[in-house]
Amino acid sequence: MFAYKKNEFFDGLTTELPGGFNEPLQLAVVIPTFNEHDNVEEMVGRLRRALRDIHWEAIFVDDNSPDGTASRIAEVAASDPRIRLVHRVGRRGLSSAVVEGMLASIAPVVAVIDADLQHDEAILLSLYRAVEGGSDLAVGTRYAAGGSIGSWSQQRAKVSQAGTTLARKVLGTELSDPMSGFFAIRRDALMSALPRLSSVGYKILLDIVASSPTRLEIAEVPYTFRERFSGASKLDSAILLEFALLLIDKTVGRWIPARFFMFAAVGGFGLLVHLAVLGMALELAQFSFRVAQGAAVLISMTGNYFINNQLTYRDRRRKGLGALTGLLSFYLICGLGGAANVGIGEVIYADGQTWWLAGLVGAAVGSVWNYAVTSCLTWRR
Ligand code: GDD
Ligand code: MN
Repeated sequence: MFAYKKNEFFDGLTTELPGGFNEPLQLAVVIPTFNEHDNVEEMVGRLRRALRDIHWEAIFVDDNSPDGTASRIAEVAASDPRIRLVHRVGRRGLSSAVVEGMLASIAPVVAVIDADLQHDEAILLSLYRAVEGGSDLAVGTRYAAGGSIGSWSQQRAKVSQAGTTLARKVLGTELSDPMSGFFAIRRDALMSALPRLSSVGYKILLDIVASSPTRLEIAEVPYTFRERFSGASKLDSAILLEFALLLIDKTVGRWIPARFFMFAAVGGFGLLVHLAVLGMALELAQFSFRVAQGAAVLISMTGNYFINNQLTYRDRRRKGLGALTGLLSFYLICGLGGAANVGIGEVIYADGQTWWLAGLVGAAVGSVWNYAVTSCLTWRR
């Protein structure tokens, strides 16, 4: 029987743990939540039934949901010490929530399941058993014999299939369902992947598999994807983008940060805005070139700031007064970047190089400066 170890303070004294806690913990189930108030109780009830035969705990990780999910979890947890809550404030993100939940437990095997009951908890035990039986990772899959995507529309099924194919090609993985968010993993396999995780976006399984320094021994368990029990999906269009960023990060990310690609793409878009404003101000409003160019710079910079704030740095988004001071720092930094762009381009041009090479080098230096400095100042962690 397990007892607290003797130590110098409690010499000769042992404390037996209360009932049910004398068995070693076998499995932790991590459940990320954002506005899942009405799913909590149902989820816990189903876990109790599905995991009857092992010693488990559930760790909800809630990002301070406005619907009060955290208080609901606390209510349920009050009468069952196996239910735990990690309450994060001022943070968002499925992948990072999952990682924090996993690290909050000492269980030798950790599983992840969505709170909305779309994943079939009945296979949780099989996932656990597969890992216990020697696999590093066991994945609930919709795309192997016996599994299915359930009642998805054809269009949604196509989008999901395309993402799956892309992920498998880019990352060279054999997983039949790399987009799954339903799996169990051995703690040491998780720990060895951890230092290289990107932790952006929704695809934590993909992240773990692509970050693992060794080839993982993977088992798959089929299940049928269900409809949401209650509430609404948090997936929005930015998720596709985050998925692209994850793929970039897992391929060329070692050399060039994925965020830089995003920042540069926004910059390219800003250039189009700039030209459009300039053209209109000159042709339609008949402004002088100076005024028109000034307006174009201001509008495209402001636009770029807000797009970067929404997308590129959505995890560090500045709000309220912070959004305004951020804008000012962005003007200042990109203003200097623009000056560097012109200056360096000029030097190279004067050196006898072609105009486009001079322009390109100037722009490259300017954008690297803008990216590097705004990431440390405007959107510092
Ligand atoms: N803590 C936290 N923070 N949880 C979040 C956040 C967040 O920012 N965003 C979403 N969640 C939680 C939801 O509350 C839910 O429990 C789970 O993550 C999945 O979110 P959904 O909004 O239901 O996403 P989905 O159904 O479209 O996609 C999910 O299922 C796919 C199929 O297995 C995701 O889990 C995908 O990763 C998964 O592949
Ligand atoms: Mn869902």
